Amino acid sequence: MQASHAASAPVPTPTSTHSSNQSYKHSKRTAKDYIFGKLIGDGCYSTVFLAKDIHTGKEYAIKVCEKSHIVRHQKVQYIKREKDALNMLFSVPHGFVKLYCTFQDEERLYFVLSYAKNGELLHYINKVGSFELNVAKFYAAELLMALEKMHAIGIIHRDLKPENILLDENMHLQIADFGTVKILDPQKIRSSTPNVPEDEQNSTSTDRSRKISFVGTAQYVSPDLLQNRVDTRSSDLWALGCIIYQMISGLPPFRASTEFLTFQKILKMDYEFPEGFPADAKDLVEKLLVLDHNKRLGASDEGFTYESIRKHPFFEGIDWENIWDETPPKIS
Ligand code: ADE
Repeated sequence: MQASHAASAPVPTPTSTHSSNQSYKHSKRTAKDYIFGKLIGDGCYSTVFLAKDIHTGKEYAIKVCEKSHIVRHQKVQYIKREKDALNMLFSVPHGFVKLYCTFQDEERLYFVLSYAKNGELLHYINKVGSFELNVAKFYAAELLMALEKMHAIGIIHRDLKPENILLDENMHLQIADFGTVKILDPQKIRSSTPNVPEDEQNSTSTDRSRKISFVGTAQYVSPDLLQNRVDTRSSDLWALGCIIYQMISGLPPFRASTEFLTFQKILKMDYEFPEGFPADAKDLVEKLLVLDHNKRLGASDEGFTYESIRKHPFFEGIDWENIWDETPPKIS
């Protein structure tokens, strides 16, 4: 799809639904309210364009999904969940891209998102090779705080990776791409035991062989998600471990030439630390990359913060209260 596609696309009697939790309350929006610019993201089921609101001049990232493609690939539920999750996160002030409104025409769905100007964390890891320890620590801390918020309201991301972690104009982190989220049943959320598998929270459900479909990206997927066993928040803690490893070493811990071989490595915990990997970081990664999801650091923390992770020596010196107001350390 070309960047100019939406402007030239036929836009027959579109319907527009503004998120109820936002103040972007103009009259109904359509694709004609935006000038579509460069392509800034491309996935299996969507394309993201930089777009300018012609009324306000404000820039947005607009995610465009072809309806026929979504229906053909049975992803309707995924799109609905993505919208629900983004709406639930709208009022969280930091750590997430924001959904300002959605609309549709006959062929496409449009998600109008905040534009994270500095793009993907992956770009920076690849650009500099690996992060200085203070930089890795800072972004790991912001990611942990965002996970705390997301998990507290019952959202499991299930596809955390440096491509889905964006940086805003001030270089603060924003989690994006909620296409594979799991939203826990509010009645089953035990805020005090954040990582109890959903099945285990439901006393009537004892079917441990229940199958969930594989979601996520091979290199960051947790063994528990891989084996279709349980759906817990600690699958995101596994991904946190992979991302901390990658920020420091430059590459994710589990790498192989095929997805299948990557999965084998994950299930066998077949990974190594490069020489010189800092001891505190190694200890934290080892405590997150644990096969048993119940035994990962943070998995049995009570309350709304991952206190045991925050207190790990790797994070020494982090000012948790003020991190979003700080100037992030320069990536070099
Ligand atoms: N790529 C995908 N979503 C994006 C966003 N919200 N901002 C910038 N780049 C993106």
